[in-house]
Amino acid sequence: MKAQIPPASDSNPASCLAATGKRLRLKQALRVKGFGTIYLRPIAPTDELLMVQFHQALSEETIYSRYFEHMTLETRVRHDRLARICLNSEDSFALVAASLGTSRRPAAIFAVGRLSRTDDPLAADFALLVNDKFQGRGIGSALMKSLMKLARTCGFARLTGEVLVANHEMLYVCRQFGFSLHTLSDDGLVQVSLDLK
Ligand SMILES: CC(C)(COP(=O)(O)OP(=O)(O)OC[C@H]1O[C@@H](n2cnc3c(N)ncnc32)[C@H](O)[C@@H]1OP(=O)(O)O)[C@@H](O)C(=O)NCCC(=O)NCCS
Repeated sequence: MKAQIPPASDSNPASCLAATGKRLRLKQALRVKGFGTIYLRPIAPTDELLMVQFHQALSEETIYSRYFEHMTLETRVRHDRLARICLNSEDSFALVAASLGTSRRPAAIFAVGRLSRTDDPLAADFALLVNDKFQGRGIGSALMKSLMKLARTCGFARLTGEVLVANHEMLYVCRQFGFSLHTLSDDGLVQVSLDLK
């Protein structure tokens, strides 16, 4: 089943993101090689425990690639932080790639893709984080595609992000989707930007 992103009902992209979080009910099925079907869906407040388990499975390298620092597990799974990031709002909207629980296998979250508002009302920042064991199976690209669609639907003009110069996988994904890449300084970061209009 394809995720139907409802048309924007508000001229403010950030309000649209928050409203979309409430309206977006359908799950987008994704076949993952060697695993089976998982679903892309908006994050929910009830995902807090699954997010703890998701973070427990991430390597130091993956954490550094996402946050550009070695954020401890304790910090990442603090209740106040998780409560905030499991709630879609005008400031940020996240999709998770998750499996449904079965009698043989409990539900799990394998990846999170997030859009966050920036100082520029027409630009949204993206961030992706995929469980190490599930990287390279198309989940990050699928999340990126959905985030692009959502940002475009909500009327954002640009999707922006920062990626470590050494993060070849993420830079590859950005190039695949047509982002322009700029290395501004020697801080080891590449600024990536995609025109959505
Ligand atoms: C970067 C990341 C989001 C990509 O997600 P993913 O699910 O692993 O990526 P996908 O499987 O969708 O696609 C990866 C693509 O990169 C390619 N790739 C893999 N390793 C690569 C490498 N070292 N160099 C170049 N390309 C590479 C794959 O072949 C694939 O291309 P294809 O679709 O043509 O086969 C994920 O690896 C991740 O979470 N990394 C750690 C956190 C991070 O870096 N976040 C980004 C900061 S915003």
